[in-house]
Amino acid sequence: MSKSNIFLDAPNVGNIEKKYLCRAIDNGYISTFGDYVPKFEKKFASYLGIKKAVSTQSGTSALHISLYTLGIGKGDEIIVPTLTFIATVNPIKYVGATPVFVDVDIDTWNVLPSEIEKKITKRTKAILPVHLYGNPCDMSAINKIAKEYNIKVIEDATESLGAIYNGKYTGTLGDLGCFSFNGNKIITTGGGGMVVGKDYKILERIKFLVNQAREDTNNYYHPEIGFNYRMTNIEAALGLAQLERLDEFLEKKIKFNTIYKEELRNIKGIKFQETLPKARSSCWLTCILIEKDLDISTLQRKLAKKGIPTRRVFMPVVEFPPYRDCRCDKYKNSYVIYSKGLCLPSSTLNSFKDIVYVCKNLRELLK
Ligand SMILES: Cc1ncc(COP(=O)(O)O)c(C=O)c1O
Repeated sequence: MSKSNIFLDAPNVGNIEKKYLCRAIDNGYISTFGDYVPKFEKKFASYLGIKKAVSTQSGTSALHISLYTLGIGKGDEIIVPTLTFIATVNPIKYVGATPVFVDVDIDTWNVLPSEIEKKITKRTKAILPVHLYGNPCDMSAINKIAKEYNIKVIEDATESLGAIYNGKYTGTLGDLGCFSFNGNKIITTGGGGMVVGKDYKILERIKFLVNQAREDTNNYYHPEIGFNYRMTNIEAALGLAQLERLDEFLEKKIKFNTIYKEELRNIKGIKFQETLPKARSSCWLTCILIEKDLDISTLQRKLAKKGIPTRRVFMPVVEFPPYRDCRCDKYKNSYVIYSKGLCLPSSTLNSFKDIVYVCKNLRELLK
């Protein structure tokens, strides 16, 4: 039997979303005006237990505006893991700074604090940790280093909305935290992002900069160069509805992760991404490391024939042409995870039965 309705990371959009979207359309506010943007920002901040959140056009623009607003630019160095999506790193280049790559931990797949410290120089301005696939980084260790060297922490929490570290949501632990609402994320606005942070004034400045640096008057007056990084009312309508369902999504994804662990526990050579004791992953994607002598792409093809979509783990960023001159032999774990890792179906459109079916096929293929 093969199935065709199993999804890797497809969005789950339903009736509440339709209702809010129709309301935005009926009111005629589909672009920059309308009340969904402030409502979404307020509810998002309140969910995370913080004062303010600023919406953006994407997770990438959230990262870019964060670096820019902190005054990071030419000559500055930003420490970043090499195992991540390229969108973590490109914004460092947008502001003219230099990414300094660090390997990840083989168990958590997240940036290694011990390696961060080795890379700090006089030029280091920030650490950009990524909570990969929703799994929280060791933020106590990272914040301790940042404090000691007086540098900033910008969390790439694009994949980790709802993940918790030491009783706090990821994204709220560093100086600034960035989220993504791309179609495949835990909640989606079709495409969008959010910046949160500790310093209210910095967030107010971000709000000003993402709106073409337009002064809050009716005159189109722009005292400096800004960006068009605003979220639209229609996107925020979708976001608000999705946010109301966030707990439902998290619960389901975490349950999928439990089922995978339970059903695959007897297969030798399978390791799951480990979560730190004081953390809870959002389980955005459940991923495994297959310590067997097999080709991941061949396994993917066999699974695809059974109707099971999968995805390779990110290729280390230093493998891409713009970053190749940073290649060296120090990113061993990132390469091991890339070559042996696999992301499994985690969309909340799947049923628990679908996940059991995926496990049954994995067991057969990995015997
Ligand atoms: C780790 C990581 N960083 C940054 C981004 C960029 O987010 P967006 O696609 O919303 O620009 C994504 C998601 O796409 C991501 O997975």
